[in-house]
Amino acid sequence: KKVVLAYSGGLDTSIILKWLQTEYGCEVVTFTADLGQGEELEPAREKAIMLGIKPENIYIEDLREEFVRDFVNPMFRANAQYEGLYLLGTSIARPLISKRLIEIAEETGADAIAHGATGKGNDQVRFELAAYALNPSIKVIAPWREWDLTSRTKLLEFAELNQIPVAKDKRGEAPFSVDANLLHTSSEGKVLEDPAEDAPDYVYQRTVHPEDAPDEAEFIEIGFEKGDAVAINGKPVTAAEMLTQLNEYGRKHGIGRLDLVEGRFVGMKSRGIYETPGGTILLEAHRGIESITMDRGAMHLKDQLMPQYAEAIYNGFWFSPEREMLQAAIDKSQEHVTGTVRLKLYKGLARTVGRWSDHSLYSEAHVTFEDDAGAYDQKDAAGFIQLNALRLKLLAARDKRLKG
Ligand code: ARG
Ligand code: SIN
Repeated sequence: KKVVLAYSGGLDTSIILKWLQTEYGCEVVTFTADLGQGEELEPAREKAIMLGIKPENIYIEDLREEFVRDFVNPMFRANAQYEGLYLLGTSIARPLISKRLIEIAEETGADAIAHGATGKGNDQVRFELAAYALNPSIKVIAPWREWDLTSRTKLLEFAELNQIPVAKDKRGEAPFSVDANLLHTSSEGKVLEDPAEDAPDYVYQRTVHPEDAPDEAEFIEIGFEKGDAVAINGKPVTAAEMLTQLNEYGRKHGIGRLDLVEGRFVGMKSRGIYETPGGTILLEAHRGIESITMDRGAMHLKDQLMPQYAEAIYNGFWFSPEREMLQAAIDKSQEHVTGTVRLKLYKGLARTVGRWSDHSLYSEAHVTFEDDAGAYDQKDAAGFIQLNALRLKLLAARDKRLKG
């Protein structure tokens, strides 16, 4: 029996690795992905070797370009926000990890995959729905739902017994559960579990406090092509470079912090602190370029579809007919979303201050408060208003009649 494990090299997934070897008696293949979490990956290789994984069973891959190109960018075309605020930084990474787990299982002849998500959250659902969608015959092992290591103490005892090194600061309880990638860092648990209490400063990891951000505003320009950001300040960038650079601007100006209580798919509410520096700038810029290039009818329909699209991603249905249908509509809407946005970054905020495009629908000739030289006949508005008011007039007349 062989299993492919999503392995971070951290304590928890190292314990899972050992547990799979000892309790399940299976051969373990490890998969470690660079999604831009900002950690060295080589230590994960060394640790896997130390835990008895054969070198040919260790997969370490840089997935940053694929992550932004095929997952983050399509999602941002929709301006997706879950419950009005969450930019889905963790949700969008899970289907990519599952996709690679399945591909590696197929390559290595493994019959199962394993992940380190707990049995209480969304991540287990996302990993597993994606895996089953891609390969229904795969077996998924979720150690957190199976083992009897039900406390931190038991976990550390198991680690000690199996000679898994425990970092000094991990001997005490880890402060909270953190998940990071190029799009965001999320923190949940411990000091954050009382939603009435403000999050302490040390929870924030990748943005300066907005009050400590530079006193001088900074201006940047983002170029879009068919809804995707492809240039910064006139220089072409790859998908991952784009988000990396925007993250740096966001970090410096304290942009993209969010303190949120959200409804998990499994039913409970949870409180999280999110930092999405580059993504927050990107969303503002994308709305900015859409504002001049997208038709009103298309935009309003797209905005109605957005919550459903965001919910599909949040709930783990990336690989589903409904997400793909919505994506097709959203992608179609982006055909002319090409042009440039100028943004002002200042103390926690990114604001669009200019936008221009060859594909613009904005007509100064029509909108001007000055003489429009006959572009628009104001008399047309009178009949337009009369016919639109007809229903309202008949309703008002009825109400008056019934009241007597
Ligand atoms: N609550 C967020 C979500 O469901 C973040 C989850 C973070 N996951 C983690 N393993 N720490 O998308
Ligand atoms: C977890 O339970 O592993 C993290 C939180 C979540 O998945 O929502």
